[in-house]
Amino acid sequence: MAKRWPIKEKGDSSVLNESIQFPTSKKVAKNRLLKPPMTESMSTWDSQDMSKSGFPTQQLINVYEKWSLGGFGLLVTGNVFVDPNSVLGPEMSFIHPNFDSYERKNAFRKSANALKRGGGLAIAQLSHGGRLTPIKINPHPWAPSSIRHESKVKIKEIPPEKGFIVGIKVNTHEFGNKDFPSDEVVKICQEFDKLGFDFIELSGGTVEQMILNADKIRESTKNREAFFQEYSRQIKPAVKNVKLYLTGGLRTVCGMNDVINSGIADGVGIGRPCMAEPDIAKKILSGEVQSVAYNVFEDSYMFYMMSSLVLLNQAAATSVDETGDDLTSGMSDYSQTCSKAILKISIVLKMIPKFMKRM
Ligand SMILES: Cc1cc2nc3c(=O)[nH]c(=O)nc-3n(C[C@H](O)[C@H](O)[C@H](O)COP(=O)(O)O)c2cc1C
Repeated sequence: MAKRWPIKEKGDSSVLNESIQFPTSKKVAKNRLLKPPMTESMSTWDSQDMSKSGFPTQQLINVYEKWSLGGFGLLVTGNVFVDPNSVLGPEMSFIHPNFDSYERKNAFRKSANALKRGGGLAIAQLSHGGRLTPIKINPHPWAPSSIRHESKVKIKEIPPEKGFIVGIKVNTHEFGNKDFPSDEVVKICQEFDKLGFDFIELSGGTVEQMILNADKIRESTKNREAFFQEYSRQIKPAVKNVKLYLTGGLRTVCGMNDVINSGIADGVGIGRPCMAEPDIAKKILSGEVQSVAYNVFEDSYMFYMMSSLVLLNQAAATSVDETGDDLTSGMSDYSQTCSKAILKISIVLKMIPKFMKRM
């Protein structure tokens, strides 16, 4: 049985079971738990023929079904790129008018149905790799200039009659990754609110930061269960309608309840732990568990992330029809002391930053 994250006290999950209605689309999430975007890298890939690349595979469908039946109210896919020349790596999903086809639409339709199977709201995270696009994929990607200057970004208002839920992820790292938010980030969130976004997900860290600074997580950040709570504490009272989700470091029912009860966010995201337990939302909401499974790599963002990816691949190997009710069937337990297998993985993982820097 998995060792769980230690708890200070027991918490009642009823507040997490409450639904959230989004202001513009009027859609309703059945509870306050969010499956945040996490790149899955489980799409088809043929570097010689991009028309055959970027389609969701059966492995991705298996994982989406498990997360969906796992109880989340709102589920966001990992990056779906809007340009095949700006993906962050091979085997990532993309859509683009030049590569549209019946087969691509059909593969995305199947993956969307899988993500909706459990009755949660499903959202695709549309992304552009920008300057993080690997040189092997595109040596000259479109990206903002590294020279900071005043710029005006035009975003069209979202027509509510379309009924789409539209949200945006705000990354604290883009604003210096300080403990407290600047006026700039608060103002930007107010603009998103005025434009009619349904939700803002507040989190932190970019892929680049995770890889290069993985073991330099500040003590002040580590000591808080909700890593970026000071951001939502400032942003929440400054916005009117938009719903706020806080993601990053949330591990216990009490910690999640505190975020909601203190009024600093409407919902909470559970990222890496849902790779170890696709049904963690259901377990929390039913009161079966008080915290997520512990991970022996908790102190290293990169090791925790990479071990989560190993678990994700194990979850992808079987469909829900094969596993039955046990959505964690066939998955390793990374909550206990380092076994030989984990040590083996860690040796491989240690080599990755050097490899990534060379790309
Ligand atoms: C393997 C992995 C892939 C991720 N991919 C994405 C992504 O595609 N888009 C995104 O906005 N955030 C991504 N993230 C960040 C997560 O959404 C989340 O903000 C982060 O893991 C912190 O939450 P946690 O402490 O609950 O894991 C990723 C994180 C991990 C571990």
